[in-house]
Amino acid sequence: MSQFGTNFCEYFAKARYVDGAWQAPEVVPLEPLQMHPASHVFHYASTCFEGFKAYRWSDGKARVFRLADHARRMQGSARSLCLPVPDVELLSDMVLQLVSHQVEDIPEPPSSLYLRPTLIGTLPNIGAAAAPSTEALLFVLASPVGDYFAGGSRPLKLLVDDKRARSTEQLGSTKTGGNYAAALGPTLAARAEFGVDQVLFCPDGDVQETGAANFLLISDDEIITKPLDTSFLHGMTRASIISLGRDLGYTINERNFTVDELLAWAPGYEAALSGTAACLTAVGTLVHNGKEHTVRDGKTGPNTDRLRKALQDIQYGSAPDPHGWLTEV
Ligand SMILES: Cc1ncc(COP(=O)(O)O)c(C=O)c1O
Repeated sequence: MSQFGTNFCEYFAKARYVDGAWQAPEVVPLEPLQMHPASHVFHYASTCFEGFKAYRWSDGKARVFRLADHARRMQGSARSLCLPVPDVELLSDMVLQLVSHQVEDIPEPPSSLYLRPTLIGTLPNIGAAAAPSTEALLFVLASPVGDYFAGGSRPLKLLVDDKRARSTEQLGSTKTGGNYAAALGPTLAARAEFGVDQVLFCPDGDVQETGAANFLLISDDEIITKPLDTSFLHGMTRASIISLGRDLGYTINERNFTVDELLAWAPGYEAALSGTAACLTAVGTLVHNGKEHTVRDGKTGPNTDRLRKALQDIQYGSAPDPHGWLTEV
């Protein structure tokens, strides 16, 4: 299958916000957008997005994972950027219409359909730096994606950056394009200098997250991860792993921890990144101040495997869904 995010379904869903109201959404053939070059988004970055998956089970029907939770997270992003806020019902309806239209294009698990709702400010006004966009476009792209772990997953190597933040205190939990642009420079530099996969951003020693995933420490009976605050993105995979971990009897320790603590704990814990694309992926090595620290034995640990399987079994339909996370299409 082609590279993640480069293959699209033939249709997409879209809805416009004009004159203070959302227009009826439509599912239409995927086409380039016609936009005024003065559109608010091009100048003042009024944009946010979501990312989640639908799975096609052996009964031929699709299920969308945590649809309402992702719609609510998008509402939070829209609010923080002063963009028109779509109702959960509107966004959910657009996703469900699109998935139902494209159900035949969804590959079987472990492959899936990645869904990308995007909201942009379209008001044509280059004098609106200090004013919100009163016009907007909401669209949903659908992209069939393969198994992230095909060919076996290799534990990741992270640069522990104890100075820089990925985002700002204000926008860390907003899923907005500028945060990804901001993380790109440090990530490319770290790849070139240290051969790492990602940067773990730890401003002032506070262990936060990487450019596109949350960070967890896992032992045989405990999961440690940063408690929710506005400095980082509140991942749905993180929340799901916490719920399943609790169900399986792990103690959940949502606490702030420092780089010093992380490096002291690394020999005895498994470390993992969580996110929609990669589910739960082991971290084998941490690089800090030019020195490599092996996490446990540097391999994917049994608890990481166990928790990932618990989540994927629900997503793929091979285990019950006790938390009601899946919406049948
Ligand atoms: C910055 C960042 N952190 C964490 C995550 C993980 O979030 P989720 O588990 O909802 O995919 C993502 C991916 O969306 C992200 O972009």
